[in-house]
Formats: sequence, C-alpha cells, structure tokens
Amino acid sequence: MSWWYYLNRTTFAGDQLRGGFAVPSTTGRNPVKSFRNATYRLDDIAKRLQNVCIENLPYAECIRRYDSENTLFYCDPPYLGTEHYYGKDSFTQDDHRRLAELLHVVEGKALISHWQNSLYDELYKGWHRYEYSGFKGSYKSEGEEKPKTLECLWSNTYLSEISTLGKFT
Ligand SMILES: C[S@@+](CC[C@H](N)C(=O)[O-])C[C@H]1O[C@@H](n2cnc3c(N)ncnc32)[C@H](O)[C@@H]1O
Repeated sequence: MSWWYYLNRTTFAGDQLRGGFAVPSTTGRNPVKSFRNATYRLDDIAKRLQNVCIENLPYAECIRRYDSENTLFYCDPPYLGTEHYYGKDSFTQDDHRRLAELLHVVEGKALISHWQNSLYDELYKGWHRYEYSGFKGSYKSEGEEKPKTLECLWSNTYLSEISTLGKFT
C-alpha cells in the first residue's frame, strides 16, 4: 500500500503505467516537499474514509442506485476528447448527453465539472454555473509553465446550499 501511494503521488496524473515521473512546472513547486505533505495527510484521509463505501460502477447504475432527495452527486466525467483514456467505450461522446439526461431528473443535488465548453453550456442550460481559472493540472509539463484553463461547475442548486448540507457520517 505504501509503495502504491508513493507511486501515485509522484507519477504524472497518478498514472503508473504510462505517466512517468511528474516534473514540476515553473511554479517552483518542490516535488519532495509535495510528497512529504501528502504523507502528513494520510491520517486525515484514513479518518475521512472510515465509514465510506467506495463503489466501482458505471455512472448510470451508480445514479440509479443512490439517488434520493438527500444525495449529492459530484460528477467529474472524462474531458471531451479524452473519453478513451479510461478504456475502450467506457465513456463515449454520447455519454456526455446521457449523463446530462440522467442528472436532469435526479431527486438529489448534482454538480458537474469540466473546462468551459459550449456542449456543457447547452446540456446544463438553466443550471447555476460557476467559473474558476487555474492551470491545467493534467498537462504533462517538461518544466515549463502549464497552460491556463477555465474550469466550470454546473449545478442544479446553489453552492451555498451544498456547503450547508449535514456532515457525512
Ligand atoms: C476526469 S476523470 C475524474 C478523476 C477524478 N476526479 C479523480 O480525482 O480521480 C474521469 C473519471 O471518469 C471515470 N469513468 C470513465 N467512464 C466511466 C463510466 N462509464 N462510469 C463511471 N465512471 C467512468 C474514469 O475512471 C475517471 O476516473
């Protein structure tokens, strides 16, 4: 487990097969310090996960099984154009549309993230939309500055409503 965690934290995008070692961009981040900080967080992570059940389900089945008025779905689907990264046909272009159809009829609260794009603006038209700019974390830097990106969150509720949801037990 400790070997897995070490590789996960030090390889590019946590990808141990193809990723190679992560190279810091020009932000001056010290990879040794980042790894040390990651180990300090292990106790908090263990505490947070002690009552958590992790499922490995196709999104449609997960939504079907867990939807209720007390559910919060946070969806971070494959980025447009990288659907094939997660296995052949695990997520196709059509799945962006299917996922939106399902999220539009859930009883629970839903949040979905993606970089800004017109397809998601169309699919989640009428939802609350939040923008934040940052650096493209998944960009495989050779030491240079990572490209800037505009990330968006679309939500069927105000974010302030989500932050006041009860603590998970
Ligand atoms: C942009 S990544 C999200 C990464 C995640 N936020 C994290 O921090 O690990 C897209 C995720 O969608 C998952 N995925 C791909 N096809 C899926 C499907 N049909 N049903 C559920 N999840 C799927 C991938 O395994 C991947 O973890």
